[in-house]
Amino acid sequence: MIIAIDGPSGAGKSTVSKLVATELGFCCLDTGAMFRSVAWLALEQGISLEDGERLGQLAASSPISFVHEAHDPSPKQVFISGVDVTGEIRTARIDKSVSKVSCHPQVRSALLDQQRRIAQAGDYVIEGRDIGTVVFPDAQVKVFLTASNQERARRRVEQNRARGIGSVDFEEVLADIIKRDEADSKRDAAPLRPAEDAFMLDSSHMTTEEVVSTICDLARSKG
Ligand code: DC
Repeated sequence: MIIAIDGPSGAGKSTVSKLVATELGFCCLDTGAMFRSVAWLALEQGISLEDGERLGQLAASSPISFVHEAHDPSPKQVFISGVDVTGEIRTARIDKSVSKVSCHPQVRSALLDQQRRIAQAGDYVIEGRDIGTVVFPDAQVKVFLTASNQERARRRVEQNRARGIGSVDFEEVLADIIKRDEADSKRDAAPLRPAEDAFMLDSSHMTTEEVVSTICDLARSKG
């Protein structure tokens, strides 16, 4: 079974995906980490973030892999072309660059292939922006998870503080989230939008447990 969880930055997709996967015995795939990894490699190699052709070639020729520990559905490490980028892809530098990479159709098509290949391996909770609309339009469960801008920025600051990576300045994080949502929603290639058959879930006033049990119930109702 595929459970697609799409939505804007900071809506709680990662936390919720991990808990849903743990509860149901699924694996997690964080597709945002894949776009972040390509953005990191492009910056490392000095490739222009405007150059869709070269970025697409880079994404197609740079395998991304996730290393899991036993019984943990979320990966402990992310590698691109054999380089461990687990921490590097969460920095403010990547936060600010990743939308410039993810807007190119060539990059999206290269990563779509990798995403489908990874998820063939079994039952997955997959988080992203276009999982229910483009990557897995036949996913059995599709959720569009949102929360208010303020709440999303507050959560992202907490997450960054806990990880010890990225900005913990609320105003900076809020501005970045709003800018990124706009770029993700307005791009031509696979923009951020709910699938027609997605279950809309606004988590602003819900506890994490409520969100998780709503999604698990949905999955169980689909068998
Ligand atoms: O979920 P995230 O914040 O780690 O995602 C990083 C960026 O990648 C985000 O700006 C949008 C983009 N993205 C995308 O375009 N499509 C996906 N399926 C996942 C992420």
